[in-house]
Amino acid sequence: MVKRNLIEHAGFDEGVSDLDLAAGTGTLSIMIKRRIASVDVTCVDGDPKILEIAERNAREANVRVDFDNAMATNLPYPDSTFDRVVSTLFFHHLNKYTKSQALLEVFRVI
Ligand SMILES: C[S@@+](CC[C@H](N)C(=O)[O-])C[C@H]1O[C@@H](n2cnc3c(N)ncnc32)[C@H](O)[C@@H]1O
Repeated sequence: MVKRNLIEHAGFDEGVSDLDLAAGTGTLSIMIKRRIASVDVTCVDGDPKILEIAERNAREANVRVDFDNAMATNLPYPDSTFDRVVSTLFFHHLNKYTKSQALLEVFRVI
């Protein structure tokens, strides 16, 4: 329900580029691709093992998603790479300092 509502409000149009921050097993990204296939989706997560699961899930769902292993506080993208950055069930994992650092990175890459 949370993910469905987020997708409704994110205003995805054809060809928008989207980063799923701390994407976990890729559930949100797969939902986005199923809703609008032309959205260019990248999953980033700090855990390489969970990304392996996400890659498998995307393959099984037959959707094309890119995957990067990186921390939210140090994203491996140039400034203004994405049109949207979305994230679910993630920010409560961070303390006040890392939350600020991650949000600075979000503003930088968007
Ligand atoms: C509860 S899961 C949520 C996954 C997904 N966003 C979802 O809604 O299903 C939290 C995820 O955050 C990732 N994570 C935790 N701290 C992180 C950090 N500092 N940078 C990147 N990923 C992180 C974990 O590896 C995990 O996949």
